[in-house]
Amino acid sequence: MVDIEIYESANDYEKFQVLRPDYNSAIIKSIELARKYIPPKGNVVVSDFCCGTGMNSNKYASDSKIKKVNLIDINSKFLEVARDSQINSDKVNIFNKNILDYCPSKESKIVFSIFAYHHLPDNQKVLFLKKIKESLANRGILIFTEIFFSSKELELEYYTKLIDEIPKDVMSKDLELFLRQTSTSSDFEFKVSKEFADNQLLESGFTLLEELKIWPTDKTFDRSIGTFVQIYRLDEVV
Ligand SMILES: C[S@@+](CC[C@H](N)C(=O)[O-])C[C@H]1O[C@@H](n2cnc3c(N)ncnc32)[C@H](O)[C@@H]1O
Repeated sequence: MVDIEIYESANDYEKFQVLRPDYNSAIIKSIELARKYIPPKGNVVVSDFCCGTGMNSNKYASDSKIKKVNLIDINSKFLEVARDSQINSDKVNIFNKNILDYCPSKESKIVFSIFAYHHLPDNQKVLFLKKIKESLANRGILIFTEIFFSSKELELEYYTKLIDEIPKDVMSKDLELFLRQTSTSSDFEFKVSKEFADNQLLESGFTLLEELKIWPTDKTFDRSIGTFVQIYRLDEVV
């Protein structure tokens, strides 16, 4: 049991996340870029790290069948939703485990790490990236979607702004509670600065191809604070 209640049941997860301007826009952009770099088709293997309800793989393959998707998540209730969602793939492999216990093979043309990296404690983040490297085929693409903060104060300010900007007619007590619990979580959220993550990916051998800042788009914070979609490639060293 973690200190954010929404993760105890899969019922409200997608419903709440899509009401967030940061999350919703980030997912739309992540899928658009995934499809640009690796168009979904019959020879594509996807690995979806900390996949949640599998919504991202589902959207990615929505109109073109892929070869295989590996869905990995620690939450069995979320994976039940993913299992029932009928992802458009010849094969759907579901792994209900801690991502660090997952044993990949280098078969994926694309890995999704969408709001995933920040769930690993800082001293485990490099191992998480190692698992991605072990999943990606040569010149494979990593869709790395994350929220970056350089301090806890900025994290609290970010979530306050987010709560303020969600239209009143869709905001509910439960959604606000989810966002407040997310901003103060000490056992499930380990967000880091963009500089920390950028350096770790670079040192792990990934090449940044493209990045977009998603939210906030105004000048409230320094540019490096907020939600980003980054596209990395892993080139095999020969
Ligand atoms: C914010 S959700 C993102 C889910 C999905 N990628 C999305 O974009 O909707 C984070 C997910 O990470 C999973 N998770 C957190 N820590 C994990 C770990 N160590 N191993 C596997 N899954 C983990 C949670 O169960 C949750 O489904």
